Amino acid sequence: MPSASGRVRVGIIGVGGIARGAHIPGYKQLHDVDLVAFCDIIPERARQGVEEFGAPGAKAYEDYHDLLARDDIDAVSVCTPNAAHAQITIAALNAGKDVICEKPMATSPADAWAMVRAAQANQRILTVGYQHRFSDDAALLKEMVDDGTVGEVYYARAIALRRRGVPTWGVFLDKEKQGGGPLIDIGTHTVDRTLWLMGDIGKPTWVLAQTFRKLADHPGYNLWGRWDPAKFQVEDAGFGFVRFESGAVLSVETSWALNIKEDLFGTVLAGSKAGAELFDGLRVYSEERGRLVDKSFNPGRSESLYHREIAHFIDRVKSRKAPLVKPEEAATVVEVLDAIYQSAASGRPETVKTVQ
Ligand SMILES: NC(=O)c1ccc[n+]([C@@H]2O[C@H](COP(=O)([O-])OP(=O)(O)OC[C@H]3O[C@@H](n4cnc5c(N)ncnc54)[C@H](O)[C@@H]3O)[C@@H](O)[C@H]2O)c1
Repeated sequence: MPSASGRVRVGIIGVGGIARGAHIPGYKQLHDVDLVAFCDIIPERARQGVEEFGAPGAKAYEDYHDLLARDDIDAVSVCTPNAAHAQITIAALNAGKDVICEKPMATSPADAWAMVRAAQANQRILTVGYQHRFSDDAALLKEMVDDGTVGEVYYARAIALRRRGVPTWGVFLDKEKQGGGPLIDIGTHTVDRTLWLMGDIGKPTWVLAQTFRKLADHPGYNLWGRWDPAKFQVEDAGFGFVRFESGAVLSVETSWALNIKEDLFGTVLAGSKAGAELFDGLRVYSEERGRLVDKSFNPGRSESLYHREIAHFIDRVKSRKAPLVKPEEAATVVEVLDAIYQSAASGRPETVKTVQ
C-alpha cells in the first residue's frame, strides 16, 4: 500500500524502449511517485535507469525476484518481451504488488487467465498497457455505444495495418519470445479497443483466419531500418474473422509489411442506429429526417496517451477502484488472438476455447 505520506513507490522490470519511452516519463510527471527500483537482465540498462530516473536510494537489479522481495515497493511496471509477462506479473501479484503489464498480457490464454486469478487471489490491481483506450475520441465513442446512440453493434473492423513498419529492435521477430508478429504486437491494441467499444457482445465463439509471411524475405525500405530475414520467424500480416455469442462479427486486419497505399490504425463500428470510424479523429454516420448524416468530432486535447494511462494506474493504486483496462478483457483479447493463430495453422475455422 502507498506510504502514509501518500507517495507510491514503483519498480520498473525491463528497462527497454517502452519503459524509457512511456512508463518512466509517465511516472516522472506525477508528483506522488518515486521510482525506487529498476531491473533488467542487461545490468547496464538497470543501472542507467537508476542514474537517470531513480529517486534517492533507488537500486538496480538483474533478477526480478530480488526487486519483488522488497516490501517497500507498492507497484511495478512489467515491460519485458511478451513471453516473460505472465511469470513476472504473477510473481509480482503474489508478492503483493499492483501491476501494469505491457501488451499483450500474455502469449497464451492459460497464462492470461492465471494472471487474472493471481490478481483476484491477492486482491491486487492488474491492468494492461492498452493506451489507445485513453483518447478523448475513444471515450466519446464508448459513451455513444453505452447510451444507445449507436444501437446494437453487430459488425466491426479492428485495423492495424503498416505498409512497411517492421520493428527491428529487441526481440520482436522472435517467435518464442514474442509469441507472434503484427497480430500479437499491434493487432492486440486494435482488437482490445474495438472489443471494448463494441459493448456487450458476449464471448468470442469461433474464428476463421489466415496469416502470411510473404514479404519477410524481401527487406528494402522499412520505417525502422532493414530487417534480417533469417531472424524473421513470425507472420508479416494476419487476418481473421471472429464471431461472438450475440451474433456480432469482427474483422481483424493487421500487418507490419503489406502492399497497400498507407498505414491505417483504428476501428470501424456498424450499429443498428449509427456507425462510426475511429482513425485520426471520430466520424459518426447515421440517418436523420430521411437524409444520410456524417458528423465529425473535434479530436480535443492532444496529451500523451501514455501519460494518461500511467496517471490512471497510479490513481487506481491509490483509490483501489477497478482500472479502465480490466484484466479479464485483456485475457479475452489473448483468447481471440490465440484462436486466430490456431485457425491460421489448421487452415480451418476454430472454436475459441475459454480457459477461465
Ligand atoms: N503499448 C505500446 O504501444 C507498446 C509499444 C512498444 C512495446 N510494447 C510492449 O513492451 C514490451 C517490451 O517492448 P520494448 O519495445 O520495450 O522492448 P525492448 O527490447 O526495447 O525492452 C525490453 C527489455 O526487457 C529486458 N528483459 C528481457 N527479459 C527480462 C527479464 N526476465 N527480466 C528483466 N528484464 C528483462 C530486455 O533486456 C530489454 O531491456 C513488449 O511486451 C511490447 O509488446 C508496447
